[in-house]
Amino acid sequence: MSGHFTSHFPESGSVDQSDQSTSIDETTVAELRELAGRYPQPRSALLPMLHLVQSVDGRVSPRGIEVCADILGITTAQVSGVATFYTMYKRRPAGKHHVGVCTTALCAVMGGDALLERAKKRLGIDENQTTPDGQVSLERLECNAACDFAPVMMVNWEFFDNMDPAKTDELLDSLMADEEVVSPRGAALTSWKEAERVLAGFPDGRADEGPSAGDASLLGLGIAADNNWSAPEADAKPAAETPEAAK
Ligand code: FES
Repeated sequence: MSGHFTSHFPESGSVDQSDQSTSIDETTVAELRELAGRYPQPRSALLPMLHLVQSVDGRVSPRGIEVCADILGITTAQVSGVATFYTMYKRRPAGKHHVGVCTTALCAVMGGDALLERAKKRLGIDENQTTPDGQVSLERLECNAACDFAPVMMVNWEFFDNMDPAKTDELLDSLMADEEVVSPRGAALTSWKEAERVLAGFPDGRADEGPSAGDASLLGLGIAADNNWSAPEADAKPAAETPEAAK
């Protein structure tokens, strides 16, 4: 069989061992132990623990892998296997703000690839790279389950809906200038590291900031209300099973 497969993840591989820097201290280790203690099977905590490592080191660091393995009683190879499987775990330091551009089917049809190219030019970096000042990193994302707002971008895992070239430029310029940016369906942005700490399971109390759903997601609800439609009761039998239907 002939053909050529182009990977969008050219840096796939192991964690970068050439960078041994770390900010993990006793407080971090105590918090990692706390996470492990939240689960009946401690190793179930590995995913949030890796997010906590990222919130401290800006990436999955070699030290972070060692500490997770030590606390959970598993091998560093097992931790690395998980850390390198999921794309939310970074092997190189992400920027203060981490930008993702969705280029899966619906977003691609609506211009996602063009937005990614524009972002590369605006930031002067390629995908999977960080600007020299460490302010913004960029990656190509798979579907964000926000197709009703295509094309979408994410910053620090917050949605930016119905993007276009002008809105992309404005967003990236604001991030580079360290101005306050508010997600249209979420909170004012903090930093990628702070968002990672929330994902690890240490809430910052801002989960209810901003709207939780946009017009596109609520459209069906509005149509149902206009037509006085409602969902059947949970225990209602399908029509074919009622005596009337059987006659
Ligand atoms: S294709 Fe982009 S959010 Fe689904």
